[in-house]
Amino acid sequence: MPYPTRITLNTPLDMHLHLRDGEMLHNIAQASAHTFSGAIIMPNLVPPVTTKEEVVAYRARIEEAIGDETFTPYMTLFFKPSYDRAFLESIKEEITAIKLYPAGITTNSEGGVSGFDVEDLRETLEAMSDLDIPLCVHGETNGFVMDREAEFVSIYERLAAAFPRLKIIMEHITTKESVAALDRFENLYATITVHHLFITLDDVAGGMLQPHLFCKPIAKRPEDREALLKVALAAHPKVMFGSDSAPHPREAKESCGCAAGVFTAPIALQLLTELFETHNAPLENLQKFISGNAQNIYGIMPPAKTVILEKHPFTVPESYNGVVPMYAGEEIKYTITEVSDG
Ligand code: DOR
Ligand code: ZN
Repeated sequence: MPYPTRITLNTPLDMHLHLRDGEMLHNIAQASAHTFSGAIIMPNLVPPVTTKEEVVAYRARIEEAIGDETFTPYMTLFFKPSYDRAFLESIKEEITAIKLYPAGITTNSEGGVSGFDVEDLRETLEAMSDLDIPLCVHGETNGFVMDREAEFVSIYERLAAAFPRLKIIMEHITTKESVAALDRFENLYATITVHHLFITLDDVAGGMLQPHLFCKPIAKRPEDREALLKVALAAHPKVMFGSDSAPHPREAKESCGCAAGVFTAPIALQLLTELFETHNAPLENLQKFISGNAQNIYGIMPPAKTVILEKHPFTVPESYNGVVPMYAGEEIKYTITEVSDG
């Protein structure tokens, strides 16, 4: 069936978003808050968000930055193995999930976990499981860069088996190995970014180096992208869209020692629509991938929003307040023509 030229998406959700803080937060928050109903907000600030006071204050700064847009920031805490049951009970109402970073694996993750001994993590993860707080994980070892995620799968399996009622979300998966793990454990879920559905390592480093496509986990091989596409286009019920949109100032990207992160927030829905159209995948799957699956997995009820896209070319701006987006200056196929509440 041919795709309609005008497409309506309801209540889009971004289940993995970096909104940063300070000036950057003010510069980029609108890009997500205008078109999305809500997002899971990553806690890797400097210093990371680890207390109730910090969560509450960060949410207030986000709300201030988004003004009167209808947008729910679903807050997260930066995982520490020292969190005990009493602390988690006291913070449960303020957060939607807790994000675990292996120490030093990516931007601002120095205070993360080193070593994944189940016994060291047991008290915190059992309490999270009992309190129904999902665990979001940046799943990479410190091995060879192309193998880090695949190597981490055995850690996912160990955690999933040891805490069978804990919802574990494999964040921004990039490999066929992670896709395969989804169906082996009932309590494993995943987010997938838009950039990992479009690019492979060839796009990053196959020609001249493309700093604005450099991120962690690094884009992988064509067969990995195929595995991601398969579950995304089918709206596998355990996968959801999470952009991992991660803005850095232009100078931090176009420099010797390029910061990891791809900024996609303002173009994510347009690109996803293009992707589903290109593959002639059912529109209802796109709707599930960008909203329905996440609502089911997290049990959230975001505020309703309607986004209308039309099939005319949109030239991606060179920069959004000093942040260069993916595909800057290039033409993409869809334009957002209307956004309304309800
Ligand atoms: O590329 C990335 N950028 N990957 C991450 O995990 C973190 C993110 C960031 O915060 O910049
Ligand atoms: Zn991230």
